[in-house]
Amino acid sequence: MNRNQQHLTMPEIPMPGGYRSLPVLGFGTSANLPVGPEIVTTAVLQAIELGYRHFDTASLYNSEQPLGEAIVEAINSGLVQSRGQLFITSKLWCRDAHPQHVLPALKKSLQNLKMDYIDLYLIHWPVSSKPGIHEYPIKKEDLLPMDFKSVWAAMEECQKLGLTKSIGVSNFSCKKLADLLAIGKIPPAVNQVEVSPCWQQKKLREFCKSNGVLVVAYSPLGSIGTRVMENEVLKEIAKAKGKTVAQVALRWGYEQGIGVVVKSYNKERMKQNLEIFDWSLSDDECRKISEIPQSRASLGKDFTSPYGPYKTIEELWDGEL
Ligand code: A2P
Repeated sequence: MNRNQQHLTMPEIPMPGGYRSLPVLGFGTSANLPVGPEIVTTAVLQAIELGYRHFDTASLYNSEQPLGEAIVEAINSGLVQSRGQLFITSKLWCRDAHPQHVLPALKKSLQNLKMDYIDLYLIHWPVSSKPGIHEYPIKKEDLLPMDFKSVWAAMEECQKLGLTKSIGVSNFSCKKLADLLAIGKIPPAVNQVEVSPCWQQKKLREFCKSNGVLVVAYSPLGSIGTRVMENEVLKEIAKAKGKTVAQVALRWGYEQGIGVVVKSYNKERMKQNLEIFDWSLSDDECRKISEIPQSRASLGKDFTSPYGPYKTIEELWDGEL
């Protein structure tokens, strides 16, 4: 690797709660197709070299270990000076979303990551499942209602112990977030949800803003499928600006004042996705993007069940579809 390469200075957003700030563009490590651990390690090292500083993982993704290995190597080789220069997010999986399992689950994630703390720990989905069962998708009969109060209290304990600097949630509707804000002592710092030009989440973003919760976008390019990448409005803007559709979509996310987690293990695309900070979208382009027809890509059907807490996706998202 070329250590002399000029690093990009990644813009940051202040984190609610005052603990440091979030490097705006995060590097996602969930793979649509399962990839070997060495591919993740290589990609993360390349990403650090290119200037990514925020890495997103989860107990579910099987990427905690290779991410941790890459970070050890990056520090040992001087690619970054210390762990503190990186921002690491991981997530509590449904089977561990029971009060007595939260702390052990975080400790396991820390062991995988070879770290003594992470920066942000999120409840992955607003649903629990039978403890001890490692299956994805979760069997319909294994989905259980989450005891939000006691699970959140256990998350708060993790923060108090210093094992995570901040706590938050993922895939929470306005309603579920409002319920959590009412019962918790520490408010969630982040709600990580799907946000892209094709699912802009205006209502949720406004709700989060007025309640001091930072939104972090996943699937900013639409993830699997072509809705974002084949969108005619985005294509037209990209062509006019000499940018790619991915860059237009990521720049749009950045201009909304939210964090954005993008996934690619391809070095050229990893680099391209970072090249969004020295140009902007015009008012007219923003208006055109705001008129794109909206639909959710990540419906969360796997988390609905006739036996579980949410029978339908309407219930899962509290009608915010
Ligand atoms: P690849 O890994 O082959 O680069 P999202 O971040 O919305 O979840 O989308 C991830 C998908 O978008 C992956 O399939 C990834 O493919 C693809 N992708 C990421 N960056 C780009 C880019 N700059 N141009 C085209 N496709 C991209």
